Amino acid sequence: MTARRGQIPPGPEEEYSTTQELLDWLGHQFKQFGDIYKASIYGTSVYVISDPQYTQHVLVENWQNYVKGQAIKRVALLLGNGLMVSEGEFWKSQRRMIQPAFHRKAIGALIKVMTTANSVLLKKWEEAARKRESVNVTHDVSHMVLEVVLVSIFGDDYEQVSSHFNLLSEESARNMEFAGAFRSLGKIILQVADRRRKEHATFTDILGMLMETRDQHSGQAMPDRQLINEVMTLIVAGHETTASVLNWTWYLISQHPDVEEKLSNELNNFLGSEFPELDDLARFAYTRQIIEESLRLYPAGWLMTRKALKDDYLGDYFVPAGTEIYIPPYFVQRHPSLWEDPDRFNPDRFSPEHSQDRHRRAMFPFSAGPRYCIGESFARMEMQIHVMMIAKQLRLRYVQTRPLELDAGVNLRNKYDFIMTPELKGIADR
Ligand code: HEM
Repeated sequence: MTARRGQIPPGPEEEYSTTQELLDWLGHQFKQFGDIYKASIYGTSVYVISDPQYTQHVLVENWQNYVKGQAIKRVALLLGNGLMVSEGEFWKSQRRMIQPAFHRKAIGALIKVMTTANSVLLKKWEEAARKRESVNVTHDVSHMVLEVVLVSIFGDDYEQVSSHFNLLSEESARNMEFAGAFRSLGKIILQVADRRRKEHATFTDILGMLMETRDQHSGQAMPDRQLINEVMTLIVAGHETTASVLNWTWYLISQHPDVEEKLSNELNNFLGSEFPELDDLARFAYTRQIIEESLRLYPAGWLMTRKALKDDYLGDYFVPAGTEIYIPPYFVQRHPSLWEDPDRFNPDRFSPEHSQDRHRRAMFPFSAGPRYCIGESFARMEMQIHVMMIAKQLRLRYVQTRPLELDAGVNLRNKYDFIMTPELKGIADR
């Protein structure tokens, strides 16, 4: 679309009404107005964009002109001023302090945590397969992912905290009541931190690293309130996103027997639950392509929002200060001019020969620029280990006839739990 410099994008006359699903409404407007449109959403003037060049501009090239948009207020009620919410110099200094906990070496040390949690899950599902019972994939995966993130953070103190945090996988509503119950868990985090201080012991888990780290300028440790905010942030950001993507992955595999067969063939080269090194994971390229394709079709963070601090331009369109920008990976990653047959699940599109010539921002499920997801490598490793360990032994059949119904809240989920029937591969294949 061409525009005179300084022009305002076209857009719908009517305001977005909360009686409609936001995802459907945004998609409908893209069809009418193209890759950038102006809309009134929740009483605010918003530019909604699906052109990867605009995305690159807002998230990477001119990121300093954009703070988080109004949607972050709801997130802040739950997470406080942690890494997801904070801005400016404060965010920068927190990010610098937390980043080492997510460096390659630190993440590599968590392989055992991930294989242990998945061994327990695998046993449970194998047992169900033997009894020909179905399993609640949504519930069980949520539980496994929560365990992984809690053990990564609290290490040997996991048993002390786990029962308190179970509400994250047992309660699916994300309302004010939930926010209140969740925030009250701050005291559990402090109890662990206080005890550790008294013991003068050093811990190598994420909480230990956050307690040891010092601000580059002041030399100070993180105040307790901030420690709580950051731990809360990592738990929530690391749990629901990863669990959603894995749910979609099992659903998609179950609908595509050809993909399931190729995955099984790749896993013939995999001996079981042992992942001695992070580097071993790179050999299983097709498993990675499946996860990538799930992230493309169902990005957990389906919509990111920003607000312009100063006047700016997106291409030739004028962006007045205060404008909200909606950046939906969901629509960019299904954009017909960026992806062939965009709604089709086809992991082969991520093979090296098919990945050339693609716009670098055609895909950004973990965002881009300085505020990209700090847990990306953690999540990728966790998702791959899970898929490999389960798919080596089991096939999950989706037997429900109920059609998908997207629940596009903070995370992109299905409205209903995925109930599936596991089958032991060895037996079924004989
Ligand atoms: C498949 C899994 C995941 C997906 C799809 C995902 C996606 C994202 C996205 C899109 C953002 C940017 C949000 C925005 O700027 O508006 C983000 C930020 C963030 N994510 Fe993730 N995430 C995942 C897993 C994780 C994990 C495992 C952790 C930690 C254990 C984590 C921690 C964070 C944090 C702390 C931020 C804020 C970073 C900052 O602003 O500096 N995420 N994530």
